[in-house]
Amino acid sequence: MTIAARIEQLRKEIEYHNYRYHALDDPEISDREYDQLFDELLALEKEHPNLVTSNSPSQRVGVPPSEAFQPVQHLEPMLSLDKSTSMDELKSWIQRNEERLDREIREIICEPKVDGVAITLHYEHGELIRAATRGDGASGEDVSANVKTIKSVPLRLLGDSIPERVEIRGEIYLPLDKFAQFNAQARVAGAPEMRNPRNGAAGSLRQKDPKITQQRPLSIFCHSLGFRSTDLVVTTHSDALARCRQWGCRVNPRIEIFNRIEDCQHYIDQLNADRTQLNYLIDGVVVKVNDFQDQRDLGQLSRQPRWAIAFKYPSSEARTKVLAVDWQVGRTGALTPVARLDPVFVDGVTVSNATLHNIDEIKRLGLKIGSEVLLRRAGDVIPQILRVLTPGDQEVDVPTKCPVCGHKASKDSDGVVIRCTERILCTAQRKEAIRHFASRGALDIEGLGDTTVEFLVDMGAVKSPLDLYRLSADDLATLERVSAPSEARIASAQKRINKFAFESYVASLEIPHLKRARIAPFTNQFASLTRLVIASEEAVAKVARVESNHAREIVAFLNVKFEDSHDLSELQRQAVEQHQKEGLIRYLTELRYPMVSRSFVKQIGNKFDSLEDLQQTSAQELAELCSLDARAAEELVNNLAVEKEPQKVRTTEGLARFLREKQVSVVKRRNAETLVRAFPSLRALMRASAAQIEHLDEFEGSKATSFIERLLYNLASKERIGEENSVQLATNIKQSKNTTFARFIFALGIPEVGESTAHSLATKFQTHVRLMDATQEELETVDDVGKVVGANIRTFFSNPRNREFVRALVAVGISWPVVEPESASRLLLSNQTWVITGTLSILRPEATKKLKQLGAKVSSSVSKNTDVVVAGEAAGSKLQKARTLGIKVVDAKEFEDFLKQHFPTTQEED
Ligand code: IVH
Repeated sequence: MTIAARIEQLRKEIEYHNYRYHALDDPEISDREYDQLFDELLALEKEHPNLVTSNSPSQRVGVPPSEAFQPVQHLEPMLSLDKSTSMDELKSWIQRNEERLDREIREIICEPKVDGVAITLHYEHGELIRAATRGDGASGEDVSANVKTIKSVPLRLLGDSIPERVEIRGEIYLPLDKFAQFNAQARVAGAPEMRNPRNGAAGSLRQKDPKITQQRPLSIFCHSLGFRSTDLVVTTHSDALARCRQWGCRVNPRIEIFNRIEDCQHYIDQLNADRTQLNYLIDGVVVKVNDFQDQRDLGQLSRQPRWAIAFKYPSSEARTKVLAVDWQVGRTGALTPVARLDPVFVDGVTVSNATLHNIDEIKRLGLKIGSEVLLRRAGDVIPQILRVLTPGDQEVDVPTKCPVCGHKASKDSDGVVIRCTERILCTAQRKEAIRHFASRGALDIEGLGDTTVEFLVDMGAVKSPLDLYRLSADDLATLERVSAPSEARIASAQKRINKFAFESYVASLEIPHLKRARIAPFTNQFASLTRLVIASEEAVAKVARVESNHAREIVAFLNVKFEDSHDLSELQRQAVEQHQKEGLIRYLTELRYPMVSRSFVKQIGNKFDSLEDLQQTSAQELAELCSLDARAAEELVNNLAVEKEPQKVRTTEGLARFLREKQVSVVKRRNAETLVRAFPSLRALMRASAAQIEHLDEFEGSKATSFIERLLYNLASKERIGEENSVQLATNIKQSKNTTFARFIFALGIPEVGESTAHSLATKFQTHVRLMDATQEELETVDDVGKVVGANIRTFFSNPRNREFVRALVAVGISWPVVEPESASRLLLSNQTWVITGTLSILRPEATKKLKQLGAKVSSSVSKNTDVVVAGEAAGSKLQKARTLGIKVVDAKEFEDFLKQHFPTTQEED
């Protein structure tokens, strides 16, 4: 078989298994087998990039982020549907249609009306060439790159009878379990949650970067055909759906055909009853005339067909009582009222909370505590309070304090949003405040993005931006968050085990001339039986490091060996299966574990200055000093005893780094063999209890526990900053101390103080002391500072905690050059000519220099070109002349104030 043919075969197989898995929910092969096929395809494509096609399963995310979605003209308009809400309406719809046709409608089809995002998929010769949203019905947006990431959308239609062109239409949706999972994660991360699954699906489809869409587990139900070329002959809608199914498209399994409209009632009721069991939202049933000839004859109105209608379920409503109203603080400090309700069952879900959005909504509803309210859970998963039924007795208090930090809360200038004023110091806003503090326009700390901030705050290492400046590279490197074993890690461990198993199988083949030491590189290079069998002599010679005649023998040997094997993948699967145990043993002996867990590194580092110090300590002492458990301490002492060159690690930081980096084996080969004899698979080992392992030879109590701990640790996902990144981040944090005053002001996150306002404030006030003490009037003299912003700044600085915080930041070393008046204020006095006369409190040359720094020309005689005369004590003729010419005169006091304003630091140092 040629490589191209094998690639094509792999693609077909992968597409088929995709379909089994995603469209039918009925996989034929294990994930592992699927991965093998996929890996083989990836490897072959990597080696032969000229054979990669845009619709290869490997290319589901191959397109770089795009700026805008291109408009797409639909080949046939995407219509909407007329609505009905009762059986009577449905009956009269059918009646009208039968009258129009002047014949009986024999088949009616009912489908769930999935609440998602309408999509049309253009296939040409079976290849997905475009996917577009509905848009205005005539044209939509090209979201192909994003849609291609959805595994249940076939990139190529399956089977043989494929039309030249066809538009397949459907609904893209976010499964409810995935929606819940996404929001749960977002909540933990403090990231924005999705409002409802429909919004979530729409938002995911409109991502600029398909990689983001790929992380959203979207799915599709195909429900109709749009344009189709004449070579596609289908006579009914059910026919069309059957074809879609054959092509590998996902079609809703709950579609049914009826002969009489009355029979649809049962379907409608049943679907409504089952609604809560479905993993997607529906907002009704679509009822369609099945026969395409009928459909054509019925035709359509401008935007909706006559042959289909939506039956909408009345949205469920329930009454309940408001027990309390709590205020939740979002990450930007906005307080959102949430009604706590007497739990009530709506649409199969118990509802005990409902958002009230803001204080205006509470007023609009006239809601009080104790009110009975009418509640609706419509398309939105988040329930809504529709109206108040009975008045209730207790007014909802508008909070004046933040419920999280207890500090002042006040209304934004829009008068609607209530916000906690403690932006930087309130725990609810911590992450956002720190993120902002480190952002580009603020202190611009590279490497301190969302995830790192998240991590540092979650780990308790950073509570306010101030803490950043107290962290050393070592502190950063010590942090580690270990989650439970993840499926991805388990899968990759299993891959490694399979790789070892395959290696062991290849070793068992006893390939002539292939040395033991070359088996690993050999199986790395030819990672599957298929690839082994098609290996060329040149490649074999190179990888096996043998002469060409030996390579020829190897190739011949392999050819003979596998001559009769038709299904190499299957053979490989069996071989790997047979050698599982050996694979697992190899995996276990390779397992390493940090000698000391990160949380203890710091403690140990605090108590010991060098490795030599530590080596001289007894296990018992170590256990006591560092609150390690006895077993861990003993193990540590034993492991350290074998370090031959302890003198190389002599500083506390060096010791910390050494302890973090030092990894030790978990088990020896002999132990691994014992373990694998008892627990022959990775999963079995993961499930084994310490008690079970203790029964095995060589595994007394603590060793068993520690084995399990370490195995699970290795399979867990770990979050940490990493040695190099820690050093880099610490350096970046340190460097950020040298900043500008404008950045510093912006970093404080004062409401409505953006970069440009911060800049104007910085130019005007120059130092934090002056800014903190500026009065409302002074503030309002600054460009873009009006009443509101001025008040925000005053509010911020009248809070002693904020003042303290700003001072602490400066104390920690954050500083900025007080902008050289020379450059900053050149505009101020440029083109002006000043004359100084009389005696001033500062020396004449000093005054001249400063005026020059501000851009003025300083002259010794007064003329009509003079702009300002500074008149000190005992000024004489020059002052006289200025008066006659009507030139502006400033006295000594005014002049000093003027200089103070423009040269603040010099003045303060005085
Ligand atoms: S048929 C003219 N079938 O509902 C035919 N539409 O109001 C219209 N929808 O956004 C399409 N489930 O995407 C059809 N089983 C289903 C549907 C369905 C959901 C959506 C459709 C469109 C809207 C039409």
